[in-house]
Amino acid sequence: MKIAVLTGAGISAESGIPTFRGPSGIWKTFKPEELATPQAFERDPKLVWEWYDWRRSIIKKAKPNKGHILIAHLEQLFEDFLLITQNVDGLHQKAGSKKVVELHGNIWRVLCTACGKKYYNYQVPLEEIPPRCKYCNGLLRPDVVWFGESLPKKEWETALEFVSSCSMLLVVGTSGVVYPAASLPFLAKQKGAKIVEINPEDTPISQIAHIRIRKKASEGMEEFLKML
Ligand code: OAD
Repeated sequence: MKIAVLTGAGISAESGIPTFRGPSGIWKTFKPEELATPQAFERDPKLVWEWYDWRRSIIKKAKPNKGHILIAHLEQLFEDFLLITQNVDGLHQKAGSKKVVELHGNIWRVLCTACGKKYYNYQVPLEEIPPRCKYCNGLLRPDVVWFGESLPKKEWETALEFVSSCSMLLVVGTSGVVYPAASLPFLAKQKGAKIVEINPEDTPISQIAHIRIRKKASEGMEEFLKML
């Protein structure tokens, strides 16, 4: 069986990383247009970096939870497997996942706005805000996807191709409202895949899911593995 998994912020909630939406979501306290757009960065790179520095400090302390670990285990059970994540925290890789596509980038990678080089920087807190490129001293930005930006081409194409021909798509912990990532379950369904959703709440994806597991990621993954 060819199986794909799509994850969102909900998979990392049990690791203590706040989700974006919902009553205690990040977007309740912060405005995305002031922090997660290219315009915000142009206006005030220091403010944007301070916010990322804060998020990096939360993520640095976080450990993968049972949900991440069981997804890494699922990869061992199927030859034809792809994990597509909207998360930038890197916790899937820490849990042992290998076949991972990061649709929204990675919070630990920096991109130089001057020379275009990309590299990992795990410093928390950052020594200098905004940080400068170690190669050319240009202004660095986080290598994540902001609102209004396109997804990385190769990652998006890999996800599209895999999802178009998989027999099952497991969707875990995403609100399913941010496009184009949210279109993947609809595409998979249209191409004949079984859709399984793990989420304590209802989402637009729930309507097309064949199986809905209304649980947190850790318990939901346990239940899903038992069903296989
Ligand atoms: P959201 O914060 O929009 O949604 C989180 C989802 O996780 C909700 O549907 C919750 O019901 C669910 N959830 C909460 N706790 C859970 C748990 N313990 N187990 C399972 N599910 C749980 O996060 P995303 O869907 O990932 O983009 O958001 C998509 C994108 O919007 C993010 O990648 C980010 C954001 O703005 C960018 O920054 C480009």
